[in-house]
Amino acid sequence: PADVGIKAIDFVFPKMYVDQAELERFDGVSAGKYTEGLGQKQMGFSSELEDINSLCLTAFSQLVERNGLRYEEIGRVDVGTETIVDKSKSVKTVLMELFAECGNHDVEGLDTTNACYGGTAALFNAVAWVESSAWDGRAAVVVAGDIAVYAKGNARPTGGCGAVAMLVGPGAPLVLERGLRATYMANVYDFYKPDLTSEYPVVDGPLSIKCYLKALDNCYEGYARRAGRPHFDLEQADAVVFHSPFCKLVQKSLARLALNDLVRARSAPSASAAPPDAHLPEALRNATLEGSYGDRQVEKELMALSRDAFERKTARSLLLASRVGNMYTASVYSCLLSHLLETPLAQLAGQRIVVFSYGSGLASSMYSLRVKGGAELETLVERCAHVRQNLDSRVAVSPQQFSDILEQRQKSLHAAPYASQRSTDELFAGTWYLAAIDEKHRRTYARK
Ligand code: ACO
Repeated sequence: PADVGIKAIDFVFPKMYVDQAELERFDGVSAGKYTEGLGQKQMGFSSELEDINSLCLTAFSQLVERNGLRYEEIGRVDVGTETIVDKSKSVKTVLMELFAECGNHDVEGLDTTNACYGGTAALFNAVAWVESSAWDGRAAVVVAGDIAVYAKGNARPTGGCGAVAMLVGPGAPLVLERGLRATYMANVYDFYKPDLTSEYPVVDGPLSIKCYLKALDNCYEGYARRAGRPHFDLEQADAVVFHSPFCKLVQKSLARLALNDLVRARSAPSASAAPPDAHLPEALRNATLEGSYGDRQVEKELMALSRDAFERKTARSLLLASRVGNMYTASVYSCLLSHLLETPLAQLAGQRIVVFSYGSGLASSMYSLRVKGGAELETLVERCAHVRQNLDSRVAVSPQQFSDILEQRQKSLHAAPYASQRSTDELFAGTWYLAAIDEKHRRTYARK
């Protein structure tokens, strides 16, 4: 099959959010630390009414309904998540509830887990199925979502919550470019969840940032090689979208790609007598990839050097990430969708969008999508118009209430039997929610 890729997208996040400037005051940190320093405006979160199963049920059912799909036409569902409520039973099996009425139980695919990377692994699996001898002509769907909550402390403002559902098949307006994919994986403990009774990770913030940037360097090197190095540089990407733990890191990452280009140009044979970086500040002329992680001076110069490229290629992708926060596996796809929503259609057509996906632990890949203009692209973008409307119709909750709700979430996570007394007023219409957990920890869901 030709032009295999993403044919439709739906995206969900909670109706409640907390304002990051208010959170700065509540946490007693200096004004601007979360908003300027991390680049975050708001953070979406949910009460115990929503768990990972309900979040994925909402994203999946909305994709199906908005695009007029029928459950009997779907032959594969891959889920990416790191939010675990059951060590054995997958989210995918819960999604099978939606297939029960039509009687389609012939649906391949299960969950993939590694921090924020699982959604990309799920996408690669779905695309591979469509391109394989096992494909029977039916559609594949990828669902990636997470509830990202941190213990009180400096990581808490980098939480978030959301899920994406994507229809995958041939003839797509967003085509995965074949052969243009690079991966970097390694064994590190930068972020992990050893306490199986808690949703909170153990995180080494500075190490996780270094690992992220090192993974980015390695993926970009591999991607550029496959795309025809030494000629490949940032200018051959019309847009670059990144996994966004917080928006400032994304801006630093785009700057990091500029450093990669400089280092690559330095080692390439040049016809001119002057070195290619002679006009640059000294910090950049001497900078190496390995020696510059966490180097504030190099970071500052690179951000200034790449500011224009950032505005043109990446800034538009941060609409959801800045207002909902880190959604782990859904984060990079929130950036992809934001770029599609924020860029005029005529400009989108023909673009090459480079995607960088990172999951701590660690797993990372860089690949690219080629945008095919036309009616399919228009329909894809039109059917996501509700995402922006939902973003603007959310309800602000005070930091104190946010903190109380998170405490209640943590307490009730594995309670059995349990049924929340909270009102469903806090949910968007059409949202699936956790109705009850029985004494044997079996969960049932209802829809608002
Ligand atoms: N005004 C403006 N900027 C400020 C202010 C202020 N008043 N105060 C601090 N800042 C800046 C800092 O200078 C820093 O920016 P810089 O690094 O560009 O210099 C930024 O705000 C953050 O301040 P730090 O003191 O570095 O923040 P802290 O160490 O408290 O926590 C961290 C930040 C490490 C990101 C933490 O939130 C965390 O651990 N988050 C989870 C881990 C994470 O997201 N890792 C990323 C990759 S892995 C993943 O996706 C989970």
